Amino acid sequence: MKQNPFIVQRPIKYGEPFCNRAEELSYLTRAAERSEAVCLLSIRRFGKTSLVNQLLGRLEEKKWLTLRLDLSRCISMDSLLQELERALFSLESMWQRVAEQIRSVSRIRPKLTLDPATSKPALGFDFSRPVNDVERIKHLLDRIVGLPERGGPGTPLCLVLDEFQNIRKIDPKGGLEWVFRSAFQERGHFFEPIFLGSERHLLKMMIQDEASAFFKGVTPMYLDVLPEGDVITFVKGHFKKGLGIPMPDQVIRGTYRIFGGHPYAINWFWSEVWSLSERSGKMEPLETLVDVAVNIILNQRDYYDALNSMLPIGAKKVLREVAKNEPVRKIFSKDFMVRACGMTQGSLQSAIKVLTEEDKIRKTPMGYILSDPLERLIITVNEMDEEEIVAFVKERIEQK
Ligand SMILES: Nc1ncnc2c1ncn2[C@@H]1O[C@H](COP(=O)(O)OP(=O)(O)O)[C@@H](O)[C@H]1O
Ligand SMILES: [Mg+2]
Repeated sequence: MKQNPFIVQRPIKYGEPFCNRAEELSYLTRAAERSEAVCLLSIRRFGKTSLVNQLLGRLEEKKWLTLRLDLSRCISMDSLLQELERALFSLESMWQRVAEQIRSVSRIRPKLTLDPATSKPALGFDFSRPVNDVERIKHLLDRIVGLPERGGPGTPLCLVLDEFQNIRKIDPKGGLEWVFRSAFQERGHFFEPIFLGSERHLLKMMIQDEASAFFKGVTPMYLDVLPEGDVITFVKGHFKKGLGIPMPDQVIRGTYRIFGGHPYAINWFWSEVWSLSERSGKMEPLETLVDVAVNIILNQRDYYDALNSMLPIGAKKVLREVAKNEPVRKIFSKDFMVRACGMTQGSLQSAIKVLTEEDKIRKTPMGYILSDPLERLIITVNEMDEEEIVAFVKERIEQK
């Protein structure tokens, strides 16, 4: 059995089939080389973690030390401390290996700072001192940031903080961010911090509010859907090379349109089609492709239902109407507010506030739109039965 090149259910690792993102990757590489802090933002499942995995793989080939910290489960000071301790621990041992390699090939002697209490180069953190949580976090961060410069001929370090917005949830007033900032500000040329996050609204506050710690200190980078041309090349290439099947452009374009370029949905769709084609050894008929797409849609209908179950009823209504009428240029017009939503100005205002904060909708120069193209699709087919969804999908795949 061949390896399915369309990876789903987890981020794509370095060396695994990854669709393009060449521009983003080269920007991030250049940023790392000049130690410019970057914050990569997008809604969930757009490929942030996968992209940064590609970056880290490249940097490792250039002899960087790299570490990705997943803060998605860090919801308290305690868990954050644990995560940072783990990070320092693994970095110290990586650094030690590098130092040993350097020692064996040259006469330069990088020195490891030893922990005075234990004389071990590992954690090097003196727990006997009574310090509070914030001080301990600062201490750990300082050690991480200072690692590349310590003693030897600096080996550069790239530290990725994934789902970084959780820092704001641990400390809603934003104080914790100042601790991170003060540590990162002291960085030398050999330390590159990258922040990733899927809660755009929170992250934007963290880097774009004048009163926030990282204001003007971090370059925001928005990750969009995958471009159509790149997806065609990617899918076509893998079907040809792996299975000898010439997948027609039109079919790839059709499914791309259905899912609005959503990286996860697209990769999922082609992963299923790949498995079926591998088994049958031929191009699957249109009906099968339609079935695959419809199953994904039905599955995601449940996913978004669960995701949105906490939204107020009014917000759900506005979300549906924005999806149907987007871009909504005049959201407080009689047409939209009264006729479409049946709402007063006050209730519409609070619905918009919730939806914006939850990153469900966003305001563009053209008007309000949904943030997530897959959610747009799910809402579009919301009132259809399965037969109608089949017809909807079929029409789009066949469309020239
Ligand atoms: N460039 C890409 N090429 C192919 N598939 C991708 C790409 N980016 C994302 N994906 C798909 O989307 C899924 C989610 O990616 P992930 O990196 O976990 O997103 P995020 O970190 O933004 O939530 C991956 O498992 C993969 O199926
Ligand atoms: Mg991720």
